[in-house]
Amino acid sequence: MEEIKRVLGEKAAMMIKDGQVVGLGSGSTVEKFIESLGRRIKSEDLEIIGIPSSYQSLILALENGIKVGSLNEYTPEITVDGADEIDQRKFMVKGGGSALLREKILMSCSKDVLVIVDETKLVEKISVGFVPIEVVKFGFKRTMDKISELGAKKVNLRVSPGKVGPIISDNGNIILDAFFGEINDPPSLEKELNSLPGVVENGIFTVRPKVLIGKRDGEGIKVAPG
Ligand code: A5P
Repeated sequence: MEEIKRVLGEKAAMMIKDGQVVGLGSGSTVEKFIESLGRRIKSEDLEIIGIPSSYQSLILALENGIKVGSLNEYTPEITVDGADEIDQRKFMVKGGGSALLREKILMSCSKDVLVIVDETKLVEKISVGFVPIEVVKFGFKRTMDKISELGAKKVNLRVSPGKVGPIISDNGNIILDAFFGEINDPPSLEKELNSLPGVVENGIFTVRPKVLIGKRDGEGIKVAPG
């Protein structure tokens, strides 16, 4: 899988043009993209500004020699990101790394969105797993009840090894993981979830990006547009 992500990262980095402002998503696939882009910037002396979507991608950008700017200063020409699930309609679930809020803001401001995924992320219809939802801490139990009223069969508070209690997002909020099962109308559920007062943003992404899919093909790795 590591190798597929590396090839995906390289292909995506080759699509970036000199002078571009690039939104940097988050996650292990984007990590490979950032490393590859850093190598290209160095070897071809490119002028690229990266706008990170998380502390993870900020740190990676700095470590790999990518100049970093803010969304207040720049508008990204393209954002490159991964996904937890992407379906045949190109609807996605994102937020496995808790970076969904800034990822969605970046995508909404970008002229182009490129999503790089290995074939394990392909599903017929989202969602197979949990939908991450960023919520404010105040009254989060009541927000969980309201998410259940919208059809979630299970809602969990996200915890993670390395910290006791709930994890806190880069924006100071908590993350819930809601299980809905197959979502027939993702744009409606995306809006309904965001209409709940305690919800900041949810991991249903309806932006319909350009997609590169990586898979093992015999001995080698094949990357094709999705
Ligand atoms: C981060 O919050 C997520 O949206 C990631 O983009 C998504 O989880 C994909 O990550 P991987 O590339 O690590 O699977």
